[in-house]
Amino acid sequence: MKVFITRPIPKKGTEMLRERFDVVINDRDRPATREELIEGVKDADAIVSLLTDRVDDELLDAAPKLKIAANYAVGFDNIDLEACTRHNVMATNTPGVLTPSVADFSIALMLATARRIVESDRFLREGKYRGWGPMLLLGKDFCNKTLGIIGMGRIGYAVAERARKGFGMRIIYHDMSKKDYADELDAEFVDMDTLLRESDYIGLFVSLNEKTRHLISREEFKKMKSTAILINTSRGPVVDEEALADALENNEIWAAGIDVYENEPAVNERLLGMKNVILTPHVASATEEARDGMAVLAAKNVIAALSGEKPDNLLNPDVLNEN
Ligand code: GLV
Ligand code: GLV
Repeated sequence: MKVFITRPIPKKGTEMLRERFDVVINDRDRPATREELIEGVKDADAIVSLLTDRVDDELLDAAPKLKIAANYAVGFDNIDLEACTRHNVMATNTPGVLTPSVADFSIALMLATARRIVESDRFLREGKYRGWGPMLLLGKDFCNKTLGIIGMGRIGYAVAERARKGFGMRIIYHDMSKKDYADELDAEFVDMDTLLRESDYIGLFVSLNEKTRHLISREEFKKMKSTAILINTSRGPVVDEEALADALENNEIWAAGIDVYENEPAVNERLLGMKNVILTPHVASATEEARDGMAVLAAKNVIAALSGEKPDNLLNPDVLNEN
């Protein structure tokens, strides 16, 4: 059986697949083109897709033998789940293994933004440091402030846990699930308005879908504190980038730390020119540990599907009823 991997991933996962299947890797250091994808899936039984690959009707039509699209990511907005189910293709993601890495990075981004670490480094390298100064590069405290978590899933929870236990922060959150975390984290469920008004730090940990697209736009920025710091390590389109640029320019919020963009890899030109925003290239899960874990999990999902078993991370269980 043939497994098509759309771009090199850590070899821990690739080796597991090579032991069992004929593995073809689109061996280029950039996202696969549409043509490469369509060519690659033609006779494939499985595809390991990346978040930069769109898995939709067109691709699935080109892949008559395909049984599984195993996404090497926790987010799966690049996959049309209904189309997969219609084509009798299982879809899976890689949750859990990247949670600590993304949570660490989210905290790092909050701290780096609050303490102006990137700006300080740039300042020094530009030869502007003339000695210690009482007012030099003042930032804001992180500990003991209020953190608002939007999306209390695995990652949101891991961020809340670090902030609560490590930094003594007050945690408020908004989420569809409304699960009560009072015992574990003293975390309080609040409505969206309260979260926007009361948070010193706001973190986005939702998946991207029609309900969360532009979840944070002009109205929301207006409700935030002028001292607020917004962090986005989820998906770019969750934030209206033009509204973010306006909010930063007009000091409606104090600063932002952004890892994901509306039209990746393009980044809003206005943001590029601003000092009160840290911009990173979608690297929140980029640790050796997380990426190895993701590769192994994607491989396990492929192995299960091609062995006639249910993969642990199946996203469209309806597909099993069609068999
Ligand atoms: C990265 O953004 C992921 O969804 O795994
Ligand atoms: C993703 O892993 C989430 O549930 O936050």
